[in-house]
Amino acid sequence: MNEWDNRAAYYRASPTHAEGDDLDQVVAWCEPGPGVTALDVASGGGHVTRRLRELGCVVTSCDLAAGMQPDVVCQAEGLAFADTSFEVVVCRLAVHHFRDPAQAVREMARVSRRLVVIEDTLLLDERVQEAERLRDSTHVSHYSREELLRMLAEAGLRPLAEAELAKRHEMDDWLSATGCAGDTAATVRRLLAHVSSPDERSWTDTKIVLKAEKTERR
Ligand SMILES: C[S@@+](CC[C@H](N)C(=O)[O-])C[C@H]1O[C@@H](n2cnc3c(N)ncnc32)[C@H](O)[C@@H]1O
Repeated sequence: MNEWDNRAAYYRASPTHAEGDDLDQVVAWCEPGPGVTALDVASGGGHVTRRLRELGCVVTSCDLAAGMQPDVVCQAEGLAFADTSFEVVVCRLAVHHFRDPAQAVREMARVSRRLVVIEDTLLLDERVQEAERLRDSTHVSHYSREELLRMLAEAGLRPLAEAELAKRHEMDDWLSATGCAGDTAATVRRLLAHVSSPDERSWTDTKIVLKAEKTERR
């Protein structure tokens, strides 16, 4: 069992992942409807998959961790699907875990017939980035809006819409989700002081949701 498999129950139950304006925005921009084919990349607890299925989409979920119980186990950087297999490809809150995010975005563009919808946390500053890495060894990097837009452009994707939404995290729950405790947790709290609530019980980041379409239909 890898680190991700151990977190499957957390991701399934986590309110941060299961609900929110950001999830609503991602779902709406997938243009869901009966029979629309969709691929949910790095599906985790399966919240995007569930919501799109409720709206009649035919969804395939994929994730590198078998413990997340996706339909297909594969890496985002090497999607196990033929070119143009899905009308929409969606990836929520996972790009910051990828070793090669640009390659993952190219793969999303390759297997999409039309739309790609991506949500991730926006890069704020190095204090937050360091806190994220200390709290979670699977955190690779956050990216700026410009870096994400460049990845889309290099993959042959044209932005259609973008939104930025604040997301609040309960500090204790967020730290315990990855077993972050003791001195490390104290350091993380200190690093996040500038984005924490006055009582330090929560902190807030910004999510960006990008909707893009392929510039060339294959
Ligand atoms: C924060 S969870 C995703 C949350 C989910 N998309 C949602 O909306 O609730 C991150 C997921 O990314 C997966 N993951 C990490 N690196 C990956 C990679 N290179 N390829 C595919 N999946 C990956 C993990 O197994 C985990 O399930």
